[in-house]
Amino acid sequence: MKAVSIYYYGGPGVLAYEDAPRPHPAPGDVLVRVHAAGINPVDWKIREGHLKEMLHHTLPLVLGWDVSGVIAALGAGVTRFKVGDEVFSRPDIERDGAYAEFIVIRETEVAWKPKSVDHVHAAALPLAGLTVWQSLFDAAALTAGQRVLIHAAAGGVGSLAVQLAKGRGAHVIGTASAKNHAFVRALGADEVVDYERERFETVVGPVDVVFDTMGGDIQTRSWKVLKRGGILVSIASPPSAEAAVAHGGRFAFVFTQPNAAQLAEIATLVDAGKLKASVETVLPLAAAVRGQALSAAGHTRGKIVLQVVGEVGRGP
Ligand SMILES: NC(=O)c1ccc[n+]([C@@H]2O[C@H](COP(=O)([O-])OP(=O)(O)OC[C@H]3O[C@@H](n4cnc5c(N)ncnc54)[C@H](OP(=O)(O)O)[C@@H]3O)[C@@H](O)[C@H]2O)c1
Repeated sequence: MKAVSIYYYGGPGVLAYEDAPRPHPAPGDVLVRVHAAGINPVDWKIREGHLKEMLHHTLPLVLGWDVSGVIAALGAGVTRFKVGDEVFSRPDIERDGAYAEFIVIRETEVAWKPKSVDHVHAAALPLAGLTVWQSLFDAAALTAGQRVLIHAAAGGVGSLAVQLAKGRGAHVIGTASAKNHAFVRALGADEVVDYERERFETVVGPVDVVFDTMGGDIQTRSWKVLKRGGILVSIASPPSAEAAVAHGGRFAFVFTQPNAAQLAEIATLVDAGKLKASVETVLPLAAAVRGQALSAAGHTRGKIVLQVVGEVGRGP
């Protein structure tokens, strides 16, 4: 099969588009024919070696942990799926990923893909969707009527966060540059702050939840808008316990985990017309280098997806 692997940590030049052995499903695994693979910032962060202390990968490693495809074979003991089922997944990030024609995934990390969207749009959902679910619903326990500030509301995570928070009945405030304001409002945001022209802490009223997708100075300034007893959930960098105490707030750091039950809930929302992934760019597998460069530039609106089956631009 064709795959995009790294043999070394480093810049875009370490990405190798090459022939690789097709993996075999072990007991409890399914073999998935990849139709589309989402690109996420974690892909190029892993490529650059930033997470090597945390994740203990052995190289070579196939990158990419967002996938939609079709079950091609079953490992021993798999009972939930059958060959031909259309599925999506955010598989275990410690194993080979989805920038490939085939991937082996644990059955427990896979769910049936939403029926109402194609593989390209389904592949844009698992990693970002689970990130929002585990941050806003599990960690923050967001409820109707609460106010939530979502940083980078036009990005892959933010664009799903706005819709899911609004769906829960929250008052949603997003940050984005001016070119993305109409997009973020169309997703359901009640207020949009132009982070290039205003300091959000001077214009946003107190919120119950901050969803920090940026870290650094943005995280530090976010404490100022949090109500006492509110929660700052970061997916960018672990918040400071001292800052939380000083502001009378709570904090959580989320590193997204595979979860088939939550994926099934996400698929249900998509098929009910309540959640939609925006895909800004679709590229062939061989163009993973370009996709990662676009992602690393930091201004993706929605998602970038590699289409592995079918002619790019014509749908799978
Ligand atoms: N911990 C975890 O498990 C986990 C999971 C998923 C993601 N993450 C991390 O979360 C971050 C976001 O992920 P993502 O997939 O959403 O990234 P992304 O899609 O690449 O985010 C791009 C978006 O960021 C916005 N942006 C850039 N600078 C901004 C600023 N100063 N203020 C507000 N918005 C800004 C851009 O909007 P404009 O073009 O309008 O500037 C663009 O829409 C990444 O660092 C990623 O690694 C962590």
